[in-house]
Amino acid sequence: MSHTPLTQRPVWTELKSLYANLKDETLRQLFAADPQRGERMSLEACGVYLDYSKHRIDASSLSALLRLAADCDLQQHIEAMFTGQKINSTEQRAVLHTALRAPASKAILVDGENVVPLVHHVLARMSAFSDQVRSGAWKGHTGKRIRNIVNIGIGGSDLGPVMAYEALKHYSQRDLTMRFVANVDATDFVEATQDLDPAETLFIISSKTFTTLETMTNAHSARAWLIAKLKDQAAVAKHFVAVSTNAEAVTKFGIDSANMFGFWDWVGGRYSMDSAIGLSTMLAIGPQGFKEMLGGFHAMDEHFRTAPLAQNMPVIMALLTIWYSDFFAAETVAILPYDQYLKRFPAYLQQLAMESNGKQTTQDGAAVDYNTSPIYWGEPGTNGQHSFYQLIHQGTRLIPCDFIAFTEPLNKLGTHHEQLLANVFAQAEALAFGKTSAEVAAEGTKPWLVPHRTFSGNRPSSMLLVDRLTPRSLGTLIALYEHSVFTQGVIWNIDSFDQWGVELGKVLAQRIVPELSRSNDAPLTHDSSTNALIRRYLRRRAGAHPPS
Ligand code: F6P
Repeated sequence: MSHTPLTQRPVWTELKSLYANLKDETLRQLFAADPQRGERMSLEACGVYLDYSKHRIDASSLSALLRLAADCDLQQHIEAMFTGQKINSTEQRAVLHTALRAPASKAILVDGENVVPLVHHVLARMSAFSDQVRSGAWKGHTGKRIRNIVNIGIGGSDLGPVMAYEALKHYSQRDLTMRFVANVDATDFVEATQDLDPAETLFIISSKTFTTLETMTNAHSARAWLIAKLKDQAAVAKHFVAVSTNAEAVTKFGIDSANMFGFWDWVGGRYSMDSAIGLSTMLAIGPQGFKEMLGGFHAMDEHFRTAPLAQNMPVIMALLTIWYSDFFAAETVAILPYDQYLKRFPAYLQQLAMESNGKQTTQDGAAVDYNTSPIYWGEPGTNGQHSFYQLIHQGTRLIPCDFIAFTEPLNKLGTHHEQLLANVFAQAEALAFGKTSAEVAAEGTKPWLVPHRTFSGNRPSSMLLVDRLTPRSLGTLIALYEHSVFTQGVIWNIDSFDQWGVELGKVLAQRIVPELSRSNDAPLTHDSSTNALIRRYLRRRAGAHPPS
């Protein structure tokens, strides 16, 4: 594979000059020049319709972006991922979340072993367990059935499960209460459990490594809470299950390996919601729903692997992100789902994209001289319209938006859905075409007010339109973003599957923990700011609550 630095490739230079030509062209002009643009610049795959016509792009820049992808050997990188090559180079691991949704008939080899039967074995165990809990056959220590499920995990072991639970609540078994605890702040655990009967509560300790400080702290508190209330150590067996790759640590914690659901080091934390980390999702929607979700993921995997680049939805979305990040210097992408059930989708995508592509070192160890991942953020529509959309419409920054909407509502009520869809279509229209000062003046607006009421427009957005939010369509949408993030990483020539940037803070926190509970006044050896903060905490604690 070619290793010419990205910004030294002729196609990159070509893109720079195409940007210079296009940057002053407006979406009004682009649409006027091509009456078919709205239909032409759209794609349909696996039940997802993508309208990318409201982007500041034309045939030449799109064609150059596609050539950039080809020049970066994207297709070979896709094959390398799907066939289990160790593309996570800094950790020397395969990256095979796609194997988690592969049909049982497929063979995918990691170090000579077909991993697909392993995946289906765990799925079968998860299904049997879920059926037992959902039917009430699984009894707690006192003989009561389980009515509450608390997933304890953080990062990929939380954001995927909580997002999927919220997204698929419509399909969930409503007599099961689902809670999610992530933060090491005790409030998270205390508030999640304060109204729960321990005799009816099952904890899922979800941690790939089973060493994460937050999760282990919460897991120990959960065990203490349960034992204190049920007054029997043996209760742990019926009230705790684990999802992890670390069987040894799970057993050491006191969870029977029969109650552990495994996965593998070739599943990254932020790519794990369709592994056993999705146990809470399966408990909520049932094994059949989970299977449908995997089917949605797989359909998008196949599309990504086989569609030509110009018709490849994750590729097109990734190229647009690169176009704005590296040529327009856009700093963020707004994720704006027009569906209340997707309220945690932006938070989920934050980890997926920013932990994957928030990197500054290339695969070859050089410093990048271009922007990598933009900042992902967002809130469901229409709420955001009455909060931060002002800045997207009239602020000084360029913020490409991803609108996500469904043609069919899951909850039919009066004209709510027509209003919801009218709003999402209107927002994309307003952002793209704005309102000129002449149009504002023609409405009889007082001249001094005209500049304030003028919308410059030319603000780009994608529209993802899906028929209905189902387990399948959710899986499809997630895989779409996974592969878009992958494509960005390939072009930026970074390792999208490590996360060294989270390590330093973890190590420093471990060093500070004992310093916050000490009673001696040995000198602190941090910088003067950190030392002062620690000393202030110790003084306040000593004053407010004498150490017990
Ligand atoms: O600290 C970052 C991280 O490693 C994420 O990548 C991961 O999803 C999260 O922590 C949780 O890790 P684990 O599942 O091992 O507890």
